[in-house]
Amino acid sequence: MRNCSQPWLILLVNLLMALSIQYSQAYSSQSKIKSAVFLSPKFVLGPGSVENKFYYNIDFPRGHVVLKSFNAEVIDETGNPVPLHETYLHHWVVARYYGRVDYTGNRDLRESDYKPVRNAGICQKGVLGQYFGLGSETRGTETYIPDPYGIEIGNPAEIPEGYEDRWMLNVHAIDTRGVEDKLGCTECRCDLYNVTVDEYGRTLRPDYTGGLLCCYDHTQCRVRHGFEGGRRSLYLRYTVKWVDWDSSIVPVKIYIFDVTDNWKRFNDSTVLSTEHDCKVEYEVEPCSATNLANDECIQTKRISVTMTNGGYLIYGVAHQHSGGIGSALYREDGKAICASIPAYGNGTEAGNEAGYIVGMSTCYPPPGSVQIADGETLILESNYSSTRVHTGVMGLFYILVVDQVAEPKRILHLPVEMYSNMNRTGYVWTAVVLVGVLSVAVAVWYRRRNKHEDEYRPLII
Ligand SMILES: *[C@@H]1O[C@H](CO)[C@@H](O)[C@H](O)[C@H]1NC(C)=O
Ligand SMILES: *[C@@H]1O[C@H](CO)[C@@H](O)[C@H](O)[C@H]1NC(C)=O
Ligand SMILES: *[C@@H]1O[C@H](CO)[C@@H](O)[C@H](O)[C@H]1NC(C)=O
Ligand SMILES: *[C@@H]1O[C@H](CO)[C@@H](O)[C@H](O)[C@H]1NC(C)=O
Repeated sequence: MRNCSQPWLILLVNLLMALSIQYSQAYSSQSKIKSAVFLSPKFVLGPGSVENKFYYNIDFPRGHVVLKSFNAEVIDETGNPVPLHETYLHHWVVARYYGRVDYTGNRDLRESDYKPVRNAGICQKGVLGQYFGLGSETRGTETYIPDPYGIEIGNPAEIPEGYEDRWMLNVHAIDTRGVEDKLGCTECRCDLYNVTVDEYGRTLRPDYTGGLLCCYDHTQCRVRHGFEGGRRSLYLRYTVKWVDWDSSIVPVKIYIFDVTDNWKRFNDSTVLSTEHDCKVEYEVEPCSATNLANDECIQTKRISVTMTNGGYLIYGVAHQHSGGIGSALYREDGKAICASIPAYGNGTEAGNEAGYIVGMSTCYPPPGSVQIADGETLILESNYSSTRVHTGVMGLFYILVVDQVAEPKRILHLPVEMYSNMNRTGYVWTAVVLVGVLSVAVAVWYRRRNKHEDEYRPLII
């Protein structure tokens, strides 16, 4: 890669990084926003290898505070951002829990040491309960929550005696240097990993061709014959912004919808309850030759979801994988509430990798303008290009809502128009990006023809 192999240089850079991490809190007098940069524990990856670790009690802002944003990226030992075509960031997830104060991490975590504090919903227990979580798009996705809103944490009145707010980080990364099929490895295709049993030794369904069950910790994706590449140390570097709690802040609730949620409603005559079944991943079947010829290869997946407790929308963003071309939340009558469209890179540098989703557009409706009623049913839609098969894709949608807005406004028509405009420009923009990606792919392919391996080969979606 670069000439950073001198141990003293690495040491020096590490030292500088360590010094800057905990003490980089910048106080902005204007908004009293604090900011800190933290590093995950180190993980080591070689060509084709996979890391999927859970780190408990990670460094995080402490006390009764309000989170304003969370950004993350993978860096190497010298602090340089690592591009997705070398280390693909499949996902990272940050989940909150109440941790026993006397648990220091010297023995295995017991159930009583760890009480998960879920988001507001809506998947089943143990699934998608995180506060934050994105994947390859993390460098280019806005997460800032506007004033006077934010995610309240560390409220002493809510934390059980003997516990404190703690945070768990899960990082799932795949080293695709020198692999035979970069997209196949990032989509966790079982044949490329030579995996037929899951992490716990259970045989996979024969029709399970790809997804997380095939790229668990320490699995290995097929590398091109003769490819040489060393193992290297990496970190997830995350930047958190927050403000101290004060009574003028309006706390948001976090909801995550999953387009694979196969929920059912039960009525045992006394209670009406909903059972969720979020599978998180799904597959995109390739379209027929006729559709391909007519340029009609889009797989649209839709579900309806009911929000028991609604609120005013403050922020919305979707999570999709390569091949994704947009996701949206609608009301039952078809009016759009929020659309989130992926941006694909068109270069090789970190943050602009061709063929990868490097950002998702976000929604910031004027607070008060988009209200979701208690018990309202919404439609979640996730579109993927189906010009080829995709395994292990996702269609998640995060929204932040508040019970009350700071200054109630009654704007009834404006937002809907604004969203349909946004949708149209979104499509045009996506088309421009896709054309860009294609032309770069072709250009790179031409350059490639006369050159030797192995630098960078763009991912073809
Ligand atoms: C794939 O796995 C099987 C059984 O686990 C093993 O016998 C075989 O050698 C593996 N193939 C490769 C290419 O690693
Ligand atoms: C639930 O079941 C009871 C008894 O069978 C019925 O009276 C009631 O209307 C049902 N509620 C709904 C919402 O279906
Ligand atoms: C998804 O695709 C369908 C069919 O092409 C289209 O009508 C819809 O607007 C798309 N939605 C998004 C969010 O891109
Ligand atoms: C990538 O896209 C940007 C913005 O659309 C454009 O300015 C730039 O020239 C493109 N780069 C390449 C290498 O095509």
